[in-house]
Amino acid sequence: MMGAVRPVIVAANWKMHTTAAEAAALAGAIAAVIDEPAVTRVICPPYVGLAAVRDALAGTGIEVGAQNVHHELAGPFTGEVSAPMLQGLASWVICGHSERRRDAGETDALIGRKVGRALEHGLRPILAVGEQLADRQAGRAEEVVAAQLAGALGGPEPAVAESLVIAYEPVWAIGTGRNAHGADAAAMAGSIRRALARLGWRDAAERVPVLYGGSVTAANIGEFLAEPSIDGALVGGASLKIDEMAGIVARAALTARARAGVQGGSNG
Ligand code: PGA
Repeated sequence: MMGAVRPVIVAANWKMHTTAAEAAALAGAIAAVIDEPAVTRVICPPYVGLAAVRDALAGTGIEVGAQNVHHELAGPFTGEVSAPMLQGLASWVICGHSERRRDAGETDALIGRKVGRALEHGLRPILAVGEQLADRQAGRAEEVVAAQLAGALGGPEPAVAESLVIAYEPVWAIGTGRNAHGADAAAMAGSIRRALARLGWRDAAERVPVLYGGSVTAANIGEFLAEPSIDGALVGGASLKIDEMAGIVARAALTARARAGVQGGSNG
């Protein structure tokens, strides 16, 4: 368990905001204020902005992600985009965001196929899981998330599973301004790692970065990064704001440097 230090990751989910031109301009402006190589930084614009954002971020070290990917490689799927089509445009992809579970009827099994396609094609999947408010109030949050993981990752662990990232996003916290408590998110991160181990995804269980998502801001990111089991954030609304992204990544850099220092010390 005490292997390599896990990276600190800040991923921006721009959802259905920005034209391609707006996305390029915003990416450039954000890049200028998040020049922190210690933090793995990912911007996920809408599909139509991927090429423009890739170009705007060239040479910055900031990576590009898609917000979705189809579970088939090609075929009669009007309006869809497959993993091979994302090659050269994105190196990350969000799979199973709760808005897609809700609006596009994505099931755990389907989301699992998306994760598989992403892994096969060298895209790092950010698998989003999270409970509804009623689940948390009923004390079922960990059980619900474990079931989502089992439904999506039920097959054998692929060789490239170490590139998997999990985003714990309680549905009641997304876009509501009501964030989870750091301690609850940390407990869930532990539960997620145990669930992966039970599924036989042992490499992933040891190495998987677990992000928190749901109303993350520059003001509250510290509460999550203070938890050693939380490795960063998937940020929605605040990720469209230059100052918020500057603050979030600056705080993440403190954690990244502290982790690297601890690692250096224990090795030396
Ligand atoms: P939010 O969205 O930060 O606006 O709550 C997070 C997400 O949906 O990934």
